Amino acid sequence: MKIIAGNWKMNLSLEEAIFLSENITSSKKNEIILFPPSLYALKVKEIVSEKNIKVGVQNIFYEDFGAYTGEISCMMVKSSKLDYVLIGHSERRKYFFEDDIIINKKLKSAIKHGLKVILCVGETLEERKIGNHFEVVKNQVLSSIEGIDNFNSIAIAYEPVWAIGTGINAKPEDANEMHKFIKDIVNVKILYGGSVNEKNAYELLSQEYIDGLLIGGASLNYISFNKIIEISENI
Ligand code: 13P
Repeated sequence: MKIIAGNWKMNLSLEEAIFLSENITSSKKNEIILFPPSLYALKVKEIVSEKNIKVGVQNIFYEDFGAYTGEISCMMVKSSKLDYVLIGHSERRKYFFEDDIIINKKLKSAIKHGLKVILCVGETLEERKIGNHFEVVKNQVLSSIEGIDNFNSIAIAYEPVWAIGTGINAKPEDANEMHKFIKDIVNVKILYGGSVNEKNAYELLSQEYIDGLLIGGASLNYISFNKIIEISENI
């Protein structure tokens, strides 16, 4: 079973989110997950639950409740009957200064509340250029999972920062090599993210160690997202 996940990031009006949710097709064999802005998550869940599509949020705070204006907790996500949380996306690391210590706390909170997690890791262009990408990703993975011994509810998304939103996806064989490297550290499903579209999805999904896709831009359009779901059905 492959995982096809759409990260809508901070996009779409409520009307557009409803329209998109209504038009996404279900999969007979793969797991489809949507990560809308959290404000829309319950509405999206209501629309897609009949289609066996899972819904998650793009971020959480690690405390359960309290004076943390603007944040939402895993307790809230769980009590809203949502399924997934994305943790450690590079945009959270870059714009909101999340480091591996914070990410580790978030991961532990999600596991405590029984949420499924997609943990994001990936190197920057500078790190790849100097050949440091394996070391960087290894450190991100190891620090994020420190103190955790049950990986049943965790998947990892390898998202090279230089491939996100740039139209330049990692070469499938390079992504595959990194996925194998990560799987040797922790044996969980590894998704690829970074400029995935309906043209490159087949080749990426055909790689031995690519267990799914985390899609940004192409998940905002139901025609391209459905096409990728259809491609995943035939792998
Ligand atoms: P793009 O597919 O727009 O490159 O975004 C990837 C991503 O960041 C998914 O989390």
